[in-house]
Amino acid sequence: MRIASDRPLGVSPASVLDYRELARRRLPRQLFDYIDGGAYEESTMRANVSDLERVLLRQIVMRDVSVRDQNCEVLGQKLEMPVILGPVGLAGMFARRGEVQAARAAEDAGVPFVESTVSICAIEEVAEATSVPPWFQLYVMRDRGFAEKLMSRAQAVGAPVLVLTIDLPVVGARHRDTRNAMVGEASTWAKFRRGLDLATHPGWIADVPVKGKPLTFGNLADVVPDASSPQDFKSWVDSQFDPSVTWEDIAWVREHWKGRLVVKGVLDPEDARRAVDAGVDGVIVSNHGGRQLDSVPSTAMALPGVVEAIGDQVEVLADGGVRTGLDVVKLVSLGAKAVLIGRAWAWAVAAGGEGAVRQMINVLESDIDTALGLTGRTLVTELDTSALYRGPNDGEA
Ligand SMILES: Cc1cc2nc3c(=O)[nH]c(=O)nc-3n(C[C@H](O)[C@H](O)[C@H](O)COP(=O)(O)O)c2cc1C
Repeated sequence: MRIASDRPLGVSPASVLDYRELARRRLPRQLFDYIDGGAYEESTMRANVSDLERVLLRQIVMRDVSVRDQNCEVLGQKLEMPVILGPVGLAGMFARRGEVQAARAAEDAGVPFVESTVSICAIEEVAEATSVPPWFQLYVMRDRGFAEKLMSRAQAVGAPVLVLTIDLPVVGARHRDTRNAMVGEASTWAKFRRGLDLATHPGWIADVPVKGKPLTFGNLADVVPDASSPQDFKSWVDSQFDPSVTWEDIAWVREHWKGRLVVKGVLDPEDARRAVDAGVDGVIVSNHGGRQLDSVPSTAMALPGVVEAIGDQVEVLADGGVRTGLDVVKLVSLGAKAVLIGRAWAWAVAAGGEGAVRQMINVLESDIDTALGLTGRTLVTELDTSALYRGPNDGEA
């Protein structure tokens, strides 16, 4: 079954930020803010974008760049470009069966899709709708038996990579969610405003609550009955996210997970070394898109230190603030083997489902292709810091 998009975009989006604008028009405010927002004053979230903007590419001309190739291999898997659709919770609230639509677009583009623990569509539903199994993202939960069951469900559908998110021992405050009564005690007035916000978005209502059922957390159906009740979800998160987790717990994961294992949420070179000692196959340099601890470094700033510490031992990936294919080229040049995108695909799926996610990936692909050509490179796998502009003496002996 293919989900046809019944939502023609009506304009021709040219960039990721165009999809953001379409998502803003389409979604109830509370859902748009849930995607768009970050923790506290959102300074790390902004820095992810602005620090990437400050990384400059080195324009090199008059090389033969007639054949350009973005193929690369990440954690044993061949990718058609160095991009991965990272784990984004609740995507099935942004568009009808949102995870399925995004996973199909990813498959079509030849890149992996990472299924979040807190997805609306269960991992089995996503796996059934695609022919390449998704990667699976797991939080370290207090109920280890439940986490083990999730790992075996992911293994049963053939997920090749487990992404263990380790930057949530406690949850950062997201003020937009509080203001929109998505978290915390809601007054009667706040509940009324929330209802009004939903009711005034008929396009979204027709797509998601009407055609997109069931709106439950597919991977957590036994423990969180209703995905549209933020309170149920919040109490599950509060009761399940485990602040006592340490590097020793990686051994427990290894006992139950037979595939590749990467940890997501490392910024510090010392943590990166510990991750390698604990036996992971890869590290994702991430600050959760600026949604956890505000005032930590952007990923563009943190990545070089992690690459220097462990880049010759395990694969280093990165995410945060990627809004163009040029951003992908910059992070890869700084040492990431591939880049995860979060908001970019969340906005696209909200804007126009599978087709829009596919088009958005095309935009990134075309940006990367141009950036390769104009930095004088032909292969993504050739990118390194020499593709970046460091100052007027670049390239001098
Ligand atoms: C709406 C939203 C939901 C997210 N949900 C998860 C999640 O369930 N698990 C996880 O590990 N990371 C989650 N993240 C973080 C992303 O995987 C990723 O680290 C981040 O979005 C990268 O930054 P970017 O959005 O600027 O690309 C989420 C991010 C967003 C925006």
